[in-house]
Amino acid sequence: MSDPRPGQSSIVGVVAYLNAAISNARLYAADHPQVRRYLERAYTELAQCLRAKSEITFLTVDQDLVVDNQPLAATSAHVTQFIQLLARGAVERITFTAGLKIAELAQLVADLSADGQTTVRSTPRIQLGKVQVRVTPSAAALQDIPPEMQDRIAAMGPVRDYSLDQLKELYHNLKASRIPPVSGFEGIVQSFVMGMTGNVPPLQILAHLKSSDEYTFTHAVNVCILTMAQAEALGIGGRKLHDIGIAASLHDAGKVFVPEEILNKPGKLTQEEWVHMRSHTVRGARQILRIEGIPKVAFIGALEHHIRYDGSGYPSLGKWRPSLVSQMIAIADAFDAMRSQRPYQGPKPDAQIVEILRKDSGTAFNPLLVENFLRLLDIDDAR
Ligand SMILES: [Fe+2]
Ligand SMILES: [Fe+2]
Repeated sequence: MSDPRPGQSSIVGVVAYLNAAISNARLYAADHPQVRRYLERAYTELAQCLRAKSEITFLTVDQDLVVDNQPLAATSAHVTQFIQLLARGAVERITFTAGLKIAELAQLVADLSADGQTTVRSTPRIQLGKVQVRVTPSAAALQDIPPEMQDRIAAMGPVRDYSLDQLKELYHNLKASRIPPVSGFEGIVQSFVMGMTGNVPPLQILAHLKSSDEYTFTHAVNVCILTMAQAEALGIGGRKLHDIGIAASLHDAGKVFVPEEILNKPGKLTQEEWVHMRSHTVRGARQILRIEGIPKVAFIGALEHHIRYDGSGYPSLGKWRPSLVSQMIAIADAFDAMRSQRPYQGPKPDAQIVEILRKDSGTAFNPLLVENFLRLLDIDDAR
């Protein structure tokens, strides 16, 4: 068995043996001796990990497996296969807790190996997070940013001014149906990647609003920074981080179609105005599709960022769990909106925002992602 990361050998072992148990259960039957053997090994490895830590969470992010905020090197075929098996069972998150019984793990193996759209069940010490089964964005190849590109970005000058003006222009082009090339968005994201390598706390590099009609662009820049910081904290890097940044920078692209007087209205919106406002998701997503070479996750982020973790919100797509990238954008979006001076509300203090994020954790926001987000912010805890 390959061991791509020192210190993760037990986790890699858990994945490898679980994968072997599930694959064999699919091939033979869940009670086959071969399945039992792999199950016992997986259990031994997992029990060992759970002695060091009382809880271990496996999270699938696109085609990566993140274990306790550390990406598991995707060099192993076991990891790739395991991600596919989880996707097949519509499972995006598994949390194992100390005290786990082998019977619980056996049930998980049986459920994940069953044919058809069966329900994969949680147990007292295996808690599952489920996603709707649907088309997910294609996995962009993992590749790092080429050095010549980094040099070009470094020569672009101050990150914020460049990004803000550039983004404003790109958004305006989208409105005029002068569909901008994807390279424009790439440049913005690259500049943040460069900024992030300096280990600066994300709050310190957020853009500040100069005038209310600049809000959409300032906000897009900030949501981009805050979403990329979250993704990076989950261990995502390279091409995937880059695509997530593009998605976040474009999440509100559809706002260019909403009249300024609605966007900046001081009072409550009428029903008709709300219809306009809400249309920015679908309209933005539709426009984004026209950008050649745009990562699919950008379309998904624009469409889903107002769908809450519990499936409510808009647009209404039935019982729909937004993708993890959209869930990260939603947190960054709410955070930046609450911190900003708007015609209809003043900025909220950080402690109050933290309190709201925690209160809405589990309904509006993914609790794991809220904790990940709060960890990376350098602000006082509201608790
Ligand atoms: Fe939005
Ligand atoms: Fe937004």
